[in-house]
Amino acid sequence: MRQIQFFDTTLRDGEQTPGVNFNTKEKVQLALQLEKWGIDTIEAGFPIASEGDFAAVQAIATAVSTMTVAGLARCQIKDIDRAYEALKQAVSPQIHVFLATSEVHRRYKLAMTKEEVIRAIKEHVTYARTLFDKVQFSPEDATRTEKDFLLEAVQTAIDAGATIINIPDTVGYSNPTAYGELFAYLIANTKSKEPIMFSSHCHDDLGMATANALAAIENGATRVEGTINGIGERAGNTALEEVALALHVRQDFYDCTTNIQLGETKRTSDLVARLSGIAVPKNKAIVGGNAYAHESGIHQDGVLKNPETYEIITPQLVGVQTNSLPLGKLSGRHAFIEKMNQLGYQFDSEETNALFKRFKELADKKKQVTEQDLLALAADQGRTQTEGVELEAVQLQYVSNGHQGAVVSITKDHQSYVASAIGAGSIQAIYNSIDQIFEQQPRLLNYEITALTSGEDAQAEVHVAIECTETNRQISGIGVDFDVLQASAKAYVQASAALKNRGENK
Ligand code: KIV
Ligand code: ZN
Repeated sequence: MRQIQFFDTTLRDGEQTPGVNFNTKEKVQLALQLEKWGIDTIEAGFPIASEGDFAAVQAIATAVSTMTVAGLARCQIKDIDRAYEALKQAVSPQIHVFLATSEVHRRYKLAMTKEEVIRAIKEHVTYARTLFDKVQFSPEDATRTEKDFLLEAVQTAIDAGATIINIPDTVGYSNPTAYGELFAYLIANTKSKEPIMFSSHCHDDLGMATANALAAIENGATRVEGTINGIGERAGNTALEEVALALHVRQDFYDCTTNIQLGETKRTSDLVARLSGIAVPKNKAIVGGNAYAHESGIHQDGVLKNPETYEIITPQLVGVQTNSLPLGKLSGRHAFIEKMNQLGYQFDSEETNALFKRFKELADKKKQVTEQDLLALAADQGRTQTEGVELEAVQLQYVSNGHQGAVVSITKDHQSYVASAIGAGSIQAIYNSIDQIFEQQPRLLNYEITALTSGEDAQAEVHVAIECTETNRQISGIGVDFDVLQASAKAYVQASAALKNRGENK
């Protein structure tokens, strides 16, 4: 059986999703969870892009223990040097050099001739190989590149020392037949002294990113690139959890193995959803809220008689928790810390104090504290601390003619700020008050409420996305609380703080 390698680019291509901006601490947390999930290589960032990216790549390079850590670089010496600096302490460093090859990119974006593109690939891949044992080359927009020129570009990279060739469907233009044939063609026609790993990298503009990645695997690719939950530029990237499950469930067809620990799938997806602020659609394959729900009577009847009638994946296989935790309001601090450690969280004593206090408040209100509740609490607390802002209180009052008045207070850098405003409804009044505190007038792009668990005592999880009207910068926030208005306020405070704090990072 062939072994398929998984390359995760949630922190690089995934962070190119509008509104997503992870900080270094979050990136390290994500990297450690991805390592647990079984990712072989993580693309930790684009070190030349910003000081923040450089610091995050460097932090991940030292935090992980088995995964290869990759950094992105254009065909420029300064990019390669910067990637080397960020990655030199990694146990297994890798560079990912890219240059566009398609006619439209050569002519309009790069203003380079074919000969200049070939020279640039040769020079920069050769240089990269002097610093790294593992060099990956990507001909950007490969699927819209003339086939013979693509082959020349790929052969040039191989001759210069690249051992991983990644074929990006940058604009999600390809389809399974064409993409599969492209791999078969390149693999059959390239020559190399060293073994070459061919890798797929697909975008989902036409909804075919997962199908295309699987077609590449069928045609000889031994590595797949993608993101968790399929987040990424425009319509996103191949959702790696979909590929992992397809290879597992249809092993009879693909005849491949992976290092993916399927039981960590849901946890990995939840963490990405929380920290990115991008909610997973209910009907999303593998990790969506409805993925294991059976609505029709005929289906329910079948599943009760034998789950195999309508279930090709069990929730347990991907780690969907249906049971509650053996933690309640009488649980002590020790049991709580132990449980958090089991869930993959380590906190210093100040963080533990704050979290334990919130856990106790939760256990007082809720009959069963689920793993979902605890994970939400941890992510919420982490974000609150990172942004240095906390919602203190929200008060609402009916004014007149359907208008509501809100008074909101928050603590920021240990100082209290209070503002009041009216609005056509409660949420608008609260958001207008928060806008006054942050002296902002952003556009509200998205507002979504979901119940974190089932049952009447479920907490509400609110996702918001806002956009700064001056810079067009988008950012998202999440709030979790029993009270929908309180959760809405938390999410908006978090997004507003992130817009202020991280405005210049991306
Ligand atoms: O989609 C793309 O072309 C990329 C490259 C940088 C590999 O993300
Ligand atoms: Zn991409």
